[in-house]
Amino acid sequence: MYSEKVMDHFMHPRNVGEIENASGQGTVGNAKCGDIMQMFLKIDDNVITDVKFKTFGCGAAIATSSMATELVIGKTISEALKLTNAAVAEALDGLPPVKMHCSLLAEQALKTALEDYFNKNNIPLPEGFSKPNVDEDEDEE
Ligand code: FES
Repeated sequence: MYSEKVMDHFMHPRNVGEIENASGQGTVGNAKCGDIMQMFLKIDDNVITDVKFKTFGCGAAIATSSMATELVIGKTISEALKLTNAAVAEALDGLPPVKMHCSLLAEQALKTALEDYFNKNNIPLPEGFSKPNVDEDEDEE
């Protein structure tokens, strides 16, 4: 049911933990499954130099948050803003349809942490900034 990459990131998640005095952080949850994801960003000169996460949730939520951190480390903010849950799922060689909402949680956590960074630094939200609404996805479960 799960790809090898999903299993690998679930069994050996990358970048687990917290960043003290993070440049931005976000906590999101899905009300239906009760899973919670926290993401911490360190940003220097517009580049994401470190990312850590903590996920209290299902295996797919752990794997997608782990993969999301790997995909954005070293990227600029504008590159990171383009990361979609579909790209995270693709990087994991796919997710079962009922588990796609878990990848939405990863995209939402990343964008919430970026939003926190913008707010803390009085940077206006970039044009077109939007976060996925994980609750919108509930009916698909
Ligand atoms: S079951 Fe809810 S995030 Fe995976």
